[in-house]
Amino acid sequence: MAEIDFGGVVENVVTRDEFPLEKAREVLKDEVITVIGYGVQGPAQSLNMRDNGFEVIIGQTPKHKAYWDKAVADGWVPGETLFDIEEAVEKGTIVQYLISDAAQTKLWPVVKKHLKAGDALYFSHGFSIVYKDQTGIIPPDDVDVIMVAPKGSGTSVRRNFLDGSGINSSYAVAQDATGRAEERCLAIGIAVGSGYLFPTTFEGEVHSDLTGERGVLMGALAGVMEAQYNCLRKNGHSPSEAFNETVEELTQSLIRLVAENGMDWMFANCSATAQRGALDWRHKFRDAVAPLFDNLYESVKNGTETAIVIERCGKEDYMDDLRAELDEIKNSEMWRAGAAVRSLRPENWGK
Ligand SMILES: NC(=O)c1ccc[n+]([C@@H]2O[C@H](COP(=O)([O-])OP(=O)(O)OC[C@H]3O[C@@H](n4cnc5c(N)ncnc54)[C@H](OP(=O)(O)O)[C@@H]3O)[C@@H](O)[C@H]2O)c1
Repeated sequence: MAEIDFGGVVENVVTRDEFPLEKAREVLKDEVITVIGYGVQGPAQSLNMRDNGFEVIIGQTPKHKAYWDKAVADGWVPGETLFDIEEAVEKGTIVQYLISDAAQTKLWPVVKKHLKAGDALYFSHGFSIVYKDQTGIIPPDDVDVIMVAPKGSGTSVRRNFLDGSGINSSYAVAQDATGRAEERCLAIGIAVGSGYLFPTTFEGEVHSDLTGERGVLMGALAGVMEAQYNCLRKNGHSPSEAFNETVEELTQSLIRLVAENGMDWMFANCSATAQRGALDWRHKFRDAVAPLFDNLYESVKNGTETAIVIERCGKEDYMDDLRAELDEIKNSEMWRAGAAVRSLRPENWGK
């Protein structure tokens, strides 16, 4: 492990130098890696592993034709590398459980039935194991239970792999039945194309991940943007102006500078007027939302958030509900204005 100083706190991480692809290939040379589910993470992780030379098969219910067809279009061959879920679990030695978290609970009796002694059961989220009282997912004692959780959308896991970069992942071992759980886990982490891997626990992952996506990464981002856009509109600004000042400037300019070299670098590349005001208002925004974050973290920790997911996303028609709410965002004035602004970007103009 490499010791890296993260802002004064030294942590151990696994880089590609310590665990090169060759080593991962050696560790997994006798394994058949079964990827269950072909939604978002499934395609990304399986295609990266296949391209990296690992033996991978897919388990997907043919009943949902769209996902099955997508797998076929990606080159998985029915009866050779694409099977229904039961058969795929039976054939695998490492079973990557990459269906939706709510569906993991429902499908567990089927998966459990086909796990064999010495298999590894793999997750990309701590959800199902940590909240076992809600999910009922308690793996048999004779299988390894491992996790690699990419810190990004599956779409980016694949895109970054193809462009030669990578998405960082956390990893953890919840159960080591074979004595090989950690090396299997790290090898898969490298195989799926992680940038670097940092250790966590299943608990640490699920608490931070659910907080992050409900907070800054998605929920807070959407909410804060809406609040500012509405404020500008209420005060007479046009949709175009409000959207540019709220979203477009962020995505086309400022957040790229943050990604490149940090928050202070982004500030330093803005006017003194902007810096002065932002430095003052930063404290007010932080203090205003801090109680909300405490509230959110508690709601994650005490299982409220996972219970909502299991209930709402476990319904047959959960996609209809999600779609309806996403459409509400898409069809709002703000995001319709956004579509118009995007169409005016030089690279999109005239398309
Ligand atoms: N999305 C991400 O970028 C991301 C990032 C990090 C970690 N993760 C974790 O990775 C795991 C997979 O997430 P995901 O977002 O890739 O999955 P997802 O898109 O939410 O799930 C889609 C997959 O689940 C299957 N599925 C849904 N309901 C099912 C049911 N009742 N029975 C059997 N299969 C069912 C779908 O197949 P059918 O509909 O055809 O049945 C499809 O293959 C989760 O643990 C998630 O938390 C995801």
